[in-house]
Amino acid sequence: MEEFNASIAFDQVLAEVDIQGSLAHVAMLGKCGILSSDEVAQIEQGLEQILAKVREGRCVFTIEHEDIHMNIEKMLTDEIGPVGGKLHTGRSRNDQVALDMHLYIRMQTVELVRLIHELHGVLLKQASQQIDVILPGYTHLQRAQPVRLSHHLLAYASMFERDMERLIDSYKRVNLCPLGAGAIAGTTFPIDREWVAERLGFDGIYDNSMDAVSDRDYLLEFLSIASIIMVHLSRLAEELILWSSDEFNFVELDDAFCTGSSMMPQKKNPDIPELIRGKSGRVFGHLIGLLTTLKALPLTYNKDLQEDKEGVFDTITTLTGCLKLMAPILETMKVNAQRMRQSAEQGFANATDLADYLVERGLPFRQAHEVVGRMVLHCIREGKGLADCTLSECQAFSPLIGEDVYARLGCEQVVEARRSAGGTAKEQVLSTLSQKKEKYDKINQWISGVWKFTASKTP
Ligand code: ARG
Repeated sequence: MEEFNASIAFDQVLAEVDIQGSLAHVAMLGKCGILSSDEVAQIEQGLEQILAKVREGRCVFTIEHEDIHMNIEKMLTDEIGPVGGKLHTGRSRNDQVALDMHLYIRMQTVELVRLIHELHGVLLKQASQQIDVILPGYTHLQRAQPVRLSHHLLAYASMFERDMERLIDSYKRVNLCPLGAGAIAGTTFPIDREWVAERLGFDGIYDNSMDAVSDRDYLLEFLSIASIIMVHLSRLAEELILWSSDEFNFVELDDAFCTGSSMMPQKKNPDIPELIRGKSGRVFGHLIGLLTTLKALPLTYNKDLQEDKEGVFDTITTLTGCLKLMAPILETMKVNAQRMRQSAEQGFANATDLADYLVERGLPFRQAHEVVGRMVLHCIREGKGLADCTLSECQAFSPLIGEDVYARLGCEQVVEARRSAGGTAKEQVLSTLSQKKEKYDKINQWISGVWKFTASKTP
């Protein structure tokens, strides 16, 4: 029963925030005259000693004391005697565990924003370095239209911006203090919830004690955001896997992130992007797991809620690992610009431009589409590109085509013609890039602004 019931095997990661919360709680008990200043001093000193031990990794936790809260309380009474038992005045493990998880998720939210921000920075750097590299853009994984590599990379920068914004927005719901809710209904002691909340750097307190001890929405939100981030990482990983295959040969990943095959000497396998892609499964699983645990759970605390932790902790470990690797993979990959360019020039990626050319000369788009379709078939039979057709060959398909068509069909011209907002022409990409740099700086400011409350150690 002890083994099945205990959570210490996984909730020991909460040790530091648990002590941080207890230090604020006991200070409040002293300030409100619930404990004497001598009692407060003894408890504070005991907690500080335990905190030092935790940081040095010298604590031995046991399942006999079930969870992190009881383990630390036991260490405290061992250290300072029965006065340690006064720490839990006006508090329940129900509001205590809720507090710990809020403190922990708050810290991890900032850390994740920081890691995504780093990855975002690498994408911006690569995009400005590769501004003139052109590769085929794909729809249905068929060559569609040529685009700048920077444009392609900045699409991911946009996704990661939304992810950071989602985390930053969720922060205000995480940054609420549940302490003082007691077991369910509040406490008979004259506590000061606002004071504790402020001391711990929270923006406010839960306004309903029953909600405070049973709310796990912030964890669902965290897991949802994490799942979306994993979708983005996984799509990027998939492209790196495709691009580094011999068939594409667009990029070469650094050896540090690849392995050889135990049997085939010629192989260089993109293990790390594959693992990033593969690990999305467990994160989605944790989201569904917690949704299922919470569904139809009556108010308020039920032991089912102890099941909120492992999935969340594993999500943090997984996501942190993926982000820490994706940034250097992108930073060190070699771009095969020549091969990208060559591929962009094949496959009739300029067909839409020829159709647009005919439209400019008065042909309805549907007809233009059909004319170019026939020309493409002709070229496939002849084994050449549209720009290789002679003028009279072109005019056999449409008399509207003139000599000036050739200036429209080159890769560069095709890319540069897409000057609409958010398009792939250089001026558009450069303007998006500079907006993204501004966003990068703004998020940097947010990170440095919140660190003082959230980090038990400085970054
Ligand atoms: N280990 C428990 C958890 O993670 C702490 C709260 C226990 N509360 C209780 N009433 N048994 O949920």
